[in-house]
Amino acid sequence: MNAHSSARRIAPSILSADFARLGEEVRAVAEAGADLIHFDVMDNHYVPNLTIGPLVCEAIRPHVKIPVDVHLMVKPVDRIVPDFARAGANIITFHPEASEHVDRTLAMIRDHGCKAGLVFNPATPLAWLDHVMDKLDIVLLMSVNPGFGGQKFIGSTLSKLREVRRRIDAWRARGGQEIWLEVDGGVKVDNIGAIAEAGADTFVAGSAVFGARDPDGGYRGVMGRLRQAKAAG
Ligand code: DX5
Ligand code: ZN
Repeated sequence: MNAHSSARRIAPSILSADFARLGEEVRAVAEAGADLIHFDVMDNHYVPNLTIGPLVCEAIRPHVKIPVDVHLMVKPVDRIVPDFARAGANIITFHPEASEHVDRTLAMIRDHGCKAGLVFNPATPLAWLDHVMDKLDIVLLMSVNPGFGGQKFIGSTLSKLREVRRRIDAWRARGGQEIWLEVDGGVKVDNIGAIAEAGADTFVAGSAVFGARDPDGGYRGVMGRLRQAKAAG
């Protein structure tokens, strides 16, 4: 077992949930063993889609105890960070291209009591990591282009994951803090093992989870299948 495989997390993305029953949906995935709720924020500017904001984060917050993982696909970033912290976000990640001052935004997220992370689109170079490793709690690699659920996993993400895993392990070996490695887009039962093997420890899954509801309305079946396939990786 690799050092990073002891704590692997599954983060259902509510982008594919039934928005008319969001409270029930987050409770159902939490009961099925979700480790985080992944909350996709899109602004029809940085990405070509429009989703949910701090008011919805605040509304779901009392329904679950597990951390809410806010993935900001918005530009600019800084204005909205305090609003999400107040709305109960535990983790806030953003795309470096969307912030004028990446170091400042990372520090601001932590100052508001949240874990901070950078998100890399499939074509975004990892050089953004070079000077901010000490300010990161999470690195999130997109395995699709951001904007929509239900897209196909981009295979080149696997080598990029290996490279980030190498950087994080080297950082830790030098005494650096813990940094999670999250992957987002097209994660399914049939590829989560290979993704885990490449070094991810936190797995976002939207359509794979919410598209596979159990007959009783819960998600224990698919969550169990994801966990089992991931452990095999
Ligand atoms: C895409 C979002 C993802 C999305 C993943 O821009 O960031 O979190 O919900 O959905 P699936 O798992 O269906 O690819
Ligand atoms: Zn996301």
